[in-house]
Amino acid sequence: MSKSSFGLIGLGVMGKSLALNILRNNFSLSVYNRNTDQEAHLLTDFMKENEHQDLVIGFSELKDFVHSLESPRKILLMVSAGPAVDSVIDGLITYLDKDDIIIDGGNSHYLDTEKRIAKVEEHGIQYLGCGISGGEEGALKGPSIMPGGSKKAYQNVSPVLESIAAKDASEKPCCSFVGPGGAGNFVKTIHNGIEYAEMQLIAECYEVMRHTKSNEEISDIFESWNKSDLSSYLLGITVQILRKKEGDQYLLDLILDRAANKGTGSWSSQISLGNGMATTMMTDAVFARYISAQKDRRVAISRQVKRDVNIQDIEESIIEDTYRFARIVNHQQGFALINELSNKNGWDIDLSEIARVWTNGCIIRSSLMERLIPLFREQQDLFDSKHTLEQLTQAEEAVSLYLKYVIEAKSPSPVVSSAYQYWLGITAGNLPANLLQAQRDFFGAHTYERTDSKRGVFFHTNW
Ligand code: 6PG
Repeated sequence: MSKSSFGLIGLGVMGKSLALNILRNNFSLSVYNRNTDQEAHLLTDFMKENEHQDLVIGFSELKDFVHSLESPRKILLMVSAGPAVDSVIDGLITYLDKDDIIIDGGNSHYLDTEKRIAKVEEHGIQYLGCGISGGEEGALKGPSIMPGGSKKAYQNVSPVLESIAAKDASEKPCCSFVGPGGAGNFVKTIHNGIEYAEMQLIAECYEVMRHTKSNEEISDIFESWNKSDLSSYLLGITVQILRKKEGDQYLLDLILDRAANKGTGSWSSQISLGNGMATTMMTDAVFARYISAQKDRRVAISRQVKRDVNIQDIEESIIEDTYRFARIVNHQQGFALINELSNKNGWDIDLSEIARVWTNGCIIRSSLMERLIPLFREQQDLFDSKHTLEQLTQAEEAVSLYLKYVIEAKSPSPVVSSAYQYWLGITAGNLPANLLQAQRDFFGAHTYERTDSKRGVFFHTNW
């Protein structure tokens, strides 16, 4: 029996779609799924659906699966992030040989990836922590892929990963080696943080408009934005979501307003907080989901709070300019966080290349992302661009009108507010942090620096 060039473990939604993508690209493939009561059908269903396909062999015994692969073996894990990844790795280690390659394609925490790298390296096994974005459709037709870890391993698996990846505007694969260690999973986590804020921003624009406009009207407005410099995958799907009907009712109006999450948004915020970075928008987007999740409590409290609400019409251009403003701030914050961790960990992440990999296949693909590619060739922070600062300054008036509107309408808009507050802070030469320092010194002798002395010289006063 001839051996397969690639192996895939886990035939859940993403694993199955990636397997089909790999087969469509003519790579021979061994697939494995564990034979538990709940999951046994995944393998049988997959093999049945692909019985005409002579490039695929299915296994429910790990040992046989491993031995069906040509050396060095290349095995993509598509199992739920967390302990399941460790248990599959533990099972694999017994059968793998030196130089074989494990690729984790799930949304793993980058610190877990670093522990796994250390563990498998003791056995001479190479490891890639590989961010994959694009959901089910992306996995099937071409996702955006962010591999990190062993560069040598990447060179071995790049023919497969680059074939299955989405292609950018110049037909280059949206797949690029991000950096060593956990860099690939880290970048995917921040992708999701940016994604959370982008989603919440669209939800806030919808919230503002739904006071006075129908779903169809809002959809038309989003559609016109989507034909401009604001176009994005998320805006495009929102146009369709707003129009979707079930019978004569809009499906969106039937969906309960309780947002769930699988954790990567909070990881991106935790990473940011732990590293002194102010990614306020993704963090507020996580909090917005958490507040939404308290549905029963919200309903109960809302019955007790009576207030005057002043709903006027708001000009569409004010919302549009505000949305444009907030998206730029969100991307500035997300990329600044990537840059910070890259510098701290010596990952040498190329921000321009990350933007390029994110121009197709992934959830946050957009025309703004296209414009960031040349920009990050010249600079490491969006706010180092005079043009960007001018653009944001010009939008200030619209953003103030938008915020005035949401305050009067008592309409929650945490992420737009957060964008504006961040902008006010980062553009303020003077902040009241002198008072914070004085308070810290007063109660805890924490010392302070003085404006009439050199930086790094600390003083204490007996207040
Ligand atoms: C992607 C998505 C994908 C997924 C996450 C988000 O890039 O394809 O980010 O990874 O949608 O699971 O999950 P939550 O919204 O449930 O946290």
